[in-house]
Amino acid sequence: MSSNTTSVDKREELNEYWRNRWVNGSTTWVLPGVNPFLKSYFTVLTGGQNFFEKRVLVPLCGKTPDLLWLCEQGLSVTGIEFADMPIIDFFKEMGLSYKFNEENGYKMYVCAEKDITIYQGDFFLMNVDILGGHFDFCWDINSLSAMIPDEQQIYVDKLVSFLSSDAHIILNCFEYDVALRGGNPPHVIFRNRLEKMFGSSFIYEELCRNTEDKLPEGLTSRVGADAQHVYYFLKKQS
Ligand SMILES: C[S@@+](CC[C@H](N)C(=O)[O-])C[C@H]1O[C@@H](n2cnc3c(N)ncnc32)[C@H](O)[C@@H]1O
Repeated sequence: MSSNTTSVDKREELNEYWRNRWVNGSTTWVLPGVNPFLKSYFTVLTGGQNFFEKRVLVPLCGKTPDLLWLCEQGLSVTGIEFADMPIIDFFKEMGLSYKFNEENGYKMYVCAEKDITIYQGDFFLMNVDILGGHFDFCWDINSLSAMIPDEQQIYVDKLVSFLSSDAHIILNCFEYDVALRGGNPPHVIFRNRLEKMFGSSFIYEELCRNTEDKLPEGLTSRVGADAQHVYYFLKKQS
């Protein structure tokens, strides 16, 4: 596979992999509630600035309750997810209703009660016009790490193209012995690779580094005892 394209067959295989995980209930990343690190680091994410009605992107959002929590803090929330099952589950489990729109081949679930929109489609086929403009903040949890190594740089370039010139990102990375997981997600990303992918227009701060015993329930079985689960804050410099 080339470093900047993914064949249609490979893409379909990857999409099928994720769809099957939802259908088979093999969703070990799903937390029982809001990610505790989101609550801890929300002020870091927003930089203490007036964030009311600013836009936050939650790429590859699955059905995370973080979408609703972010909205309840006053943000305008956009998710991207290609599987319909978690999107529908999200609205059902949160007790929210939605309007389904399909325009120019793009499917949107627009929450009736809250400022939450989830685009159903392949992240790699999205662009900033479809998404209604740039985002001020990005909460990228278990998303970059879901990408196979060959797609990580493409994912990062795409993500950065969705963000404003002074955007803030919080993302998580996993560090472990690759041999232990046989190439399954979450994929390993060490800081040097992260910095290489996002480049010098960002500043980087490690927020916390957790070992298995400190991981929230639901993550513990995924990466083994020696793994490190690291949260980073990235700030784009305009
Ligand atoms: C590991 S899960 C993380 C979900 C969510 N961020 C969370 O932490 O609960 C990865 C999610 O990305 C979705 N996904 C994978 N590849 C995608 C793509 N190319 N476009 C859109 N969604 C994708 C999968 O369906 C899955 O819901």
